[in-house]
Amino acid sequence: MVIATDIEPQEPPMIEVRDLDFAYGAKLALEDINLKVARHRVTALIGPSGCGKSTLLRCINRMNQRLPGAHIRRGSIRIEGHDIHDPRVSLTLLRQRVGMVFQKSNPFPKSIHDNVAFGLRIAGVSDPVVLDEAVERALRAAALWDELKDRLHQHAHSLSGGQQQRLCIARAVATRPAVLLMDEPCSALDPIATLKIEELLGQLAQEHTVVIVTHNMQQAVRVSHDTAFLHLGRLVEHAPTAQLFDNPQQALTEAYLRGTF
Ligand SMILES: Nc1ncnc2c1ncn2[C@@H]1O[C@H](COP(=O)(O)OP(=O)(O)O)[C@@H](O)[C@H]1O
Ligand SMILES: [Mg+2]
Repeated sequence: MVIATDIEPQEPPMIEVRDLDFAYGAKLALEDINLKVARHRVTALIGPSGCGKSTLLRCINRMNQRLPGAHIRRGSIRIEGHDIHDPRVSLTLLRQRVGMVFQKSNPFPKSIHDNVAFGLRIAGVSDPVVLDEAVERALRAAALWDELKDRLHQHAHSLSGGQQQRLCIARAVATRPAVLLMDEPCSALDPIATLKIEELLGQLAQEHTVVIVTHNMQQAVRVSHDTAFLHLGRLVEHAPTAQLFDNPQQALTEAYLRGTF
């Protein structure tokens, strides 16, 4: 009898990073990263400041390549099996498939409605009924619909900080991206606004594959299914969150979790 020890998934992982080296000019920021992210999971990226969390996140939607000198030295990144650097993959299409939310909320100086409809308009949607439906769906996904449904044409900057960040989440999910990248999305928010976003994450994972950078280890425990620990540009350990925190396999992970670096 053959016992399968390493069961290959039926479908390609949502995100697959292979042998990735990434440099800013001469400085290597990521080295030999191999990471597979399964669909409909929340994956937390943790590790000390400067270890490469944001760099890795930004590689996944080619956000880094705008910087002069920043380049992939080796390796590849696939989303649903497609190489994101394939010349046939347009940046516009990639950004529709891979949404991003930043540390500091950055709504456009437009109305609430126009913010959420932005990506759809870029994708060529102009039918007002379709846009209205999509705006409602995205605002519901960001738990903002009930709060904002009567003021969709107000300026986005009239919202509170927490609402602005949830608006950015609504804007990011409006095009129904397969992947949602979040770089410390709560670090500028108060505890109540943070809690609201943390509560959203589980629901967002039902439609999207979420990768979230957090410097807050308790947040990683609360919100993620899987955790990847990075140190000095290398991926040290990637495991289901409970396993990584309760029973780390690497001495470096254990030292980091214990705070005895
Ligand atoms: N735009 C940049 N130009 C040059 N070096 C950078 C740039 N952004 C980040 N780095 C360097 O790359 C490394 C990883 O940074 P980053 O990904 O921002 O880490 P983290 O998000 O884990 O704090 C650090 O050494 C940082 O100084
Ligand atoms: Mg960072």
